[in-house]
Amino acid sequence: MTDTAQPVAFPQDRTCPYQPPPGYRPLREARPLARVTLFDGSPAWLVSGHGTARRLLADRRLSTDRTRDGFPVTTARLAGLVRRTTALLGVDDPEHRAQRKLVLPEFTLKRAAALRPRIQEIVDARLDAMIAGGSPAELVSAFALPVPSMVICALLGVPYADHDFFEEQSRRLLRGPDSADVADARDRLEDYLGDLVDRKREHPGHGLLDDLVCQGVDREQTVALAVILLIAGHETTANMISLGTYTLLCHPERLAELRADPSLLPGAVEELMRVLSIADGLLRLATEDIEVDGETIRAGEGVVFAGSVINRDESVYPDPDALDWHRPARHHVSFGFGIHQCLGQNLARAELEIALRALFTRLPGLRLAVPAEEIPFKPGDTIQGMLELPVAW
Ligand code: HEM
Repeated sequence: MTDTAQPVAFPQDRTCPYQPPPGYRPLREARPLARVTLFDGSPAWLVSGHGTARRLLADRRLSTDRTRDGFPVTTARLAGLVRRTTALLGVDDPEHRAQRKLVLPEFTLKRAAALRPRIQEIVDARLDAMIAGGSPAELVSAFALPVPSMVICALLGVPYADHDFFEEQSRRLLRGPDSADVADARDRLEDYLGDLVDRKREHPGHGLLDDLVCQGVDREQTVALAVILLIAGHETTANMISLGTYTLLCHPERLAELRADPSLLPGAVEELMRVLSIADGLLRLATEDIEVDGETIRAGEGVVFAGSVINRDESVYPDPDALDWHRPARHHVSFGFGIHQCLGQNLARAELEIALRALFTRLPGLRLAVPAEEIPFKPGDTIQGMLELPVAW
């Protein structure tokens, strides 16, 4: 580790939505590990090297159990969720393995491929509605959010008619004003999904939650899985669609390349995932001392993985700030790595590919409706994306 005079503060806001915050530059220089200071002044390790990140994300001595003493918290708002268990993402093996096994069959590559026609229908219908409304339009509310929201509703068996409610709770959960608001949003979401699961126990329908009920998975477990799947299933992908669209519109030469050769799209989705690193700060707690790269991470210390820095490690990605559809970007950590690697990654890739292809094919004249620097994007302490994206065509 390079000795930097002052530990860097983490997280920081981006100044450009597709670039890491300028304040993270010392973290790049200090690869692969640095010390950072969290919002409350507490110290944590920051992993910034690609190889070290993948090694540590696969290391069972790092826990994701947020109820453990000393688990790192990166913003005051999320302190409201400490001591509350989150299914999958917040549990260690063997409990984690048992939970993941229950839902894994629904998220395989094969299942994502089978869902493609349904995703295409949803994408086409949303674009029809947006185009019918006329130019300009606000892309987040008209397209980027409804598409993944409708897809995850169909997959889980949650009524999309309730989307205003659960999208609002999800927004508060990730970006509410304070920790009481965040905790209240989580309570309301749990109550809503609890009622839904109760109705499914009486009258099972079609969807993953119905299948879990029919398999005899208990109410508490089904509701806990429903909460994480519903939130993770729409917020993240919505942010990738909005930020991916913005980034393409800001790089007309890369967009032209993609239009000329649509077979580049799967590689472009991967490269956008790498560069945008929207989940920029995965959290872990060391449960034992870990020797790594000449440093010792002590039991009880917090560890943060900064995707925006890890995914720009020049020893793996030459000219890391450039968008290059031809590079093998697949080993990025934007879906995490190890046992918690994103359950929905096959689905997310399918949604991104279908949504971006349809958007830029149907609207060849798509452009930003206001100057790029006037478009609001999300602060650094949450999942990155556009708050609004006014577009014209
Ligand atoms: C582009 C969109 C997405 C991104 C960037 C993303 C990112 C991530 C990341 C980084 C992790 C690992 C977190 C960690 O290790 O701390 C994760 C886990 C997870 N994601 Fe995604 N995700 C996306 C889409 C989805 C979708 C569509 C679903 C569908 C349900 C989903 C469900 C999950 C679940 C359940 C986990 C926890 C897995 C476990 O702990 O075993 N994600 N995601």
